[in-house]
Amino acid sequence: MAADVRAGLTKPFKELSPRYFYDERGSELFEQITELPEYYPTRCEREILQLHAREICAAAGAPATLIELGSGSAAKTRLLLDAMRDAGCLEAYAPVDISEQITRDTSEAIAAEYEIIVHGLVCDFERDLERIPLRGPRVIALLGGTIGNFEPAQRASFLARVANLLGEDDHFLLGTDLVKDRATLEAAYNDSAGVTSEFNKNVLAVLNERLDCDFDLDAFEHVAFWDEENLWMDIRLRSLARQVVNIAALEMHVAFDRGEEMRTEISTKFARQGLAGIYAESGLEMAGWWTDPSGLYGLSLARPAR
Ligand code: TRP
Repeated sequence: MAADVRAGLTKPFKELSPRYFYDERGSELFEQITELPEYYPTRCEREILQLHAREICAAAGAPATLIELGSGSAAKTRLLLDAMRDAGCLEAYAPVDISEQITRDTSEAIAAEYEIIVHGLVCDFERDLERIPLRGPRVIALLGGTIGNFEPAQRASFLARVANLLGEDDHFLLGTDLVKDRATLEAAYNDSAGVTSEFNKNVLAVLNERLDCDFDLDAFEHVAFWDEENLWMDIRLRSLARQVVNIAALEMHVAFDRGEEMRTEISTKFARQGLAGIYAESGLEMAGWWTDPSGLYGLSLARPAR
């Protein structure tokens, strides 16, 4: 984390990695975001799973193991697990998350609810993908639109590694938010209750705690806008004043100009054709595609290209 934060804060256009959003408070705030009227992705993804989990399970070849990257509380995952259990194929679930507490809680809950093997893994799935135990046939799921938070080059290498991990009978299930009108997108990241703003600023509290910094959360404001060239929501924190922040653990000071913006996340939006191209470039091919009835969000199934 120290090296990562140092690298991000010494760039001419400062940035922080979105993986640090999710301390206990951050995870709680994100759960609140998923319930906001403006934030449609979670509801749409749940709807797709409610309507199509059975079909998805069949298209994935009735897998024995579900490996879920960034599992969190696994709220929607149960819809998939139910479909696998009903199909008689479910044997094991492996939740993989960066937060130890939530992974423990989720593992215990799923183990109690389903009589299956649960193998929780606490790691950064982007770095430690190859540590994930695999018994086939399996489906690796990355839900919630998290793939949109990767930069294009990072996304391409991640997908290539997924392609490498997958055996002939394995599948990859991916949740992607879709390109749509600016107003809908910008509202989803600028809710009227201010929860998103609090969530975004919470990353500064995480840095204060873990790297002994003195970020003043009130000296920054939340910014989120649609970048239609890059097809992503650009999410930033803007410094409200000229200020110098001390980062004791890194023995460094970071100066912010008044109005200077630091990127905290991108959230890329996709379209079916573009996604098929992205898969193809990484050695995968699309084997299934489902959207919610209003077409706001997509779930796709991929397999190694033959
Ligand atoms: N990964 C989520 C997304 O891209 C996280 C998220 C929702 C988010 N709202 C946010 C991240 C606001 C930063 C700021 O939709």
